[in-house]
Amino acid sequence: MALTLPAHPDPLAERIHRSGLLHELAHGLGGPFHYLLPERFDANLAAFRAALADAGVDGRIHYAKKANKASVFVDRCAAADTGVDVASLGELRDALGHGVRGEHLVVTGPAKSAPLLRVAVRQGALIAVDAPDELEHLLGLDGGRPARVLLRRHPPSQPGSRFGLDDGQLHRALERCAAAGDAVRMEGFSFHLSGYAVRPRADLAGELVELCLHARSLGLPADRISIGGGFPVDYVAADAWDAFLTAQRPGHYHGEKSFAAGDFYPYHSPVAGADALRAILAARPGGTGPSLAERLRQAGVTLLLEPGRALLDRAGSSVFPVQGVKDRAGYGIVTVDGTSLSLSEQWFASEYLPEPVLLRAAPSPADPADLADPADLADRPYRACVGGASCLDSDLLTWRKIAFPARPRVGDLLVYPNTAGYQMDSNESPFHELPLPPKVVVDHSGDRPRWRLDR
Ligand SMILES: Cc1ncc(COP(=O)(O)O)c(C=O)c1O
Repeated sequence: MALTLPAHPDPLAERIHRSGLLHELAHGLGGPFHYLLPERFDANLAAFRAALADAGVDGRIHYAKKANKASVFVDRCAAADTGVDVASLGELRDALGHGVRGEHLVVTGPAKSAPLLRVAVRQGALIAVDAPDELEHLLGLDGGRPARVLLRRHPPSQPGSRFGLDDGQLHRALERCAAAGDAVRMEGFSFHLSGYAVRPRADLAGELVELCLHARSLGLPADRISIGGGFPVDYVAADAWDAFLTAQRPGHYHGEKSFAAGDFYPYHSPVAGADALRAILAARPGGTGPSLAERLRQAGVTLLLEPGRALLDRAGSSVFPVQGVKDRAGYGIVTVDGTSLSLSEQWFASEYLPEPVLLRAAPSPADPADLADPADLADRPYRACVGGASCLDSDLLTWRKIAFPARPRVGDLLVYPNTAGYQMDSNESPFHELPLPPKVVVDHSGDRPRWRLDR
């Protein structure tokens, strides 16, 4: 039996799908593409801001740009005076070029390059220092102004993490900052945790508030902490997700491929996005005493966040034209124009599970499948995996045998929903000299969806 995992219903996406726009675009662009919905980004941003305001917490959001390369989202940050988290010189240049102010940037990532640090200091960006030698580098730089830094805490709850400064390094770094005078402005501490749990984030944030108080006793400003990203996205319904995790086994996948439940992103999250921030702010660090929101207020500490995936929730989807369909015993293999490089999850030995929607094209006599078997024109359910148009046996967008409502035909479109966060472009490459799928920005100023290319 096939296990179905449809994305949550999305009336806006359904309207676009019904409008015929995507077939027009596939025709005009001549291949796969991604479409982006910036109004969703704006709404997600507003929800995070509301969570901060409702908790009475002074906060600043930095969109983690690594989650999507599109310009439109950085434009929206500039327009909303929102910050951006950048982790490379390219990301920093792009953010500045789109009008985000230098002081609204936070620079993350390990062992940052000398040019990145130099530009970051000159632009007044906040730099999350990941290692003692990075701090020494900054202290030796003459950037014409103090380097604004956060000290990134190695998370004690994730001892295997390669990021951050351990206890000893952190305390030596504080002493170095206190002795450095105007070379550096130590504004606080940061962390980013793997996983999506609320509790460890609240606990570590509570510890960072205490560290700020300690740093102030050394004469340092220390008035902010960053809790990084990792706000979960809720892609699919709870019952479908639970049923899937219980039942999935190699027989559900092409090539009897096996996945452990833990190999998957948690596609269902009962508390997601800005609600996860609300939960973190309401939690009591260490399990007792005042809430995190209260501790931040009492200590006069500003909360910085670096959400990536959660700001992009439902802000984009990926569209692949069907290029061929062939039958195997008991299921089919749909090959699309495009590759699994445009759906990153495969490259983490995992699978993007929210299922693609089949958008039918008008039947064409040029399609040999239509001519060979007119019965295929009737919509009968059809199970198939989805492969990319490359010569790699492992290039599958979906190993799972998906229950399509009908046998896909050449010219139909498969729309993978909600791919803006990390899926659509993190790993794209022009393999086989296939062009990179363009990004199309769709907005709704009137009844009809309108589009433009993202530049
Ligand atoms: C330092 C840092 N901040 C923010 C993020 C964004 O995380 P997410 O997209 O899960 O919110 C990441 C992701 O790797 C990160 O490393």
